[in-house]
Amino acid sequence: MRTITVSLVPPYAAEVERGGLARAGAWARPFLPAGGRAFVLTVPPVRRAWGAALEAALAAAGLAFTTLELPDGETHKRLAELESLAEAMVAHGAGRDALVIAFGGGVIGDVAAFLASVYMRGIALVQIPTSLVAMIDSALGGKTAVNLAAGKNLLGTFYHPGAILVDPALLATLPEREYRSGLAEAIKVALIADAPLFARIERDIAALRALQPAALDPLIAACLEHKARIVAADEREGGLRRILNYGHTFGHALETATGYTHFLHGEAVAWGMIAAGRLALRLGRWSEPEQRRAEAAILALCRPLPPIRVAPDVLLAHMASDKKARAGELHFVLPAALGRVEVVSGVPRDAVLAALADTAALRA
Ligand SMILES: NC(=O)c1ccc[n+]([C@@H]2O[C@H](COP(=O)([O-])OP(=O)(O)OC[C@H]3O[C@@H](n4cnc5c(N)ncnc54)[C@H](O)[C@@H]3O)[C@@H](O)[C@H]2O)c1
Ligand SMILES: [Zn+2]
Repeated sequence: MRTITVSLVPPYAAEVERGGLARAGAWARPFLPAGGRAFVLTVPPVRRAWGAALEAALAAAGLAFTTLELPDGETHKRLAELESLAEAMVAHGAGRDALVIAFGGGVIGDVAAFLASVYMRGIALVQIPTSLVAMIDSALGGKTAVNLAAGKNLLGTFYHPGAILVDPALLATLPEREYRSGLAEAIKVALIADAPLFARIERDIAALRALQPAALDPLIAACLEHKARIVAADEREGGLRRILNYGHTFGHALETATGYTHFLHGEAVAWGMIAAGRLALRLGRWSEPEQRRAEAAILALCRPLPPIRVAPDVLLAHMASDKKARAGELHFVLPAALGRVEVVSGVPRDAVLAALADTAALRA
């Protein structure tokens, strides 16, 4: 087992253990107030695959629990669904002593955490992430959210879980495309912060595609270590945490321009990292050989990627209206070396357009 501590006040831990789901009851027990009931919030695909295992673990530890479902998918990450879950919790007797167990990918993780943060002004929360994105990214860091018609994640709170339990064995049932999309976020972590980790990923391409524990489990732990460190240094995204947005300025533009139906988030980020690298290259901020290595790793782990069929100027317009574009000026997180990025502003429009055209011309 690897334990990663998030050094905030209060601190909390993410435990990475293959097979750890079997001891979820004993693990969750300290976070359940005396006399309280646990509420497992999940989605149907996760419940079908792993619900019985989690429920057996909770029962074995003598926890009183109720399982509630949100319909699957990003379209259900809405305030109305949060309200339905809250009504169901009330109906099942959830008081201030209830514990929310978020059990699923990033969607249920974000909704369940948001709900825990506002239910009776805040109740206990733990996360058992089941997608790769949730394991390495969304479960840790305290950002909760639902979407508005006007855009993604526009409503939310900061609310950290009491603990996170990561069992990489759960990834066995994750759809392959979702898994590859999650690997993009893992490459992101290596590219922004960890050159040796990037080299390990390059070496482990085949093993990672095959979900081999010896390659996958340490990668998950390494990503969590970095996220924990970055979040502890910059909890509210005032500075350092922005480097986690590497590949995301381009990525979000791709997602919004295609109405969130064409690319999975990680696929858009994969393209976004390639585009950011191409841009850095045009600006003379990093080197051809590094870009070749980054692209090779991204494509080897994430392909097939849906092609980019949106014109560069349309993408640029979406970037300019992104909520993260401050005062109309575009900020890019650009690679400076393998394992190091910089936040760059005042990038010429032409360079961005050219980098986008370069990227769209790639075959993946
Ligand atoms: N809070 C944050 O810091 C943060 C960070 C990154 C992403 N997010 C959010 O996370 C969401 C994306 O998360 P996601 O990619 O996990 O999407 P998701 O939660 O929709 O999960 C993807 C799909 O995989 C299924 N699934 C998950 N685990 C499974 C398993 N073990 N077996 C079988 N099926 C499984 C889900 O049911 C779903 O169909 C987005 O809404 C994004 O905004 C939040
Ligand atoms: Zn992301």
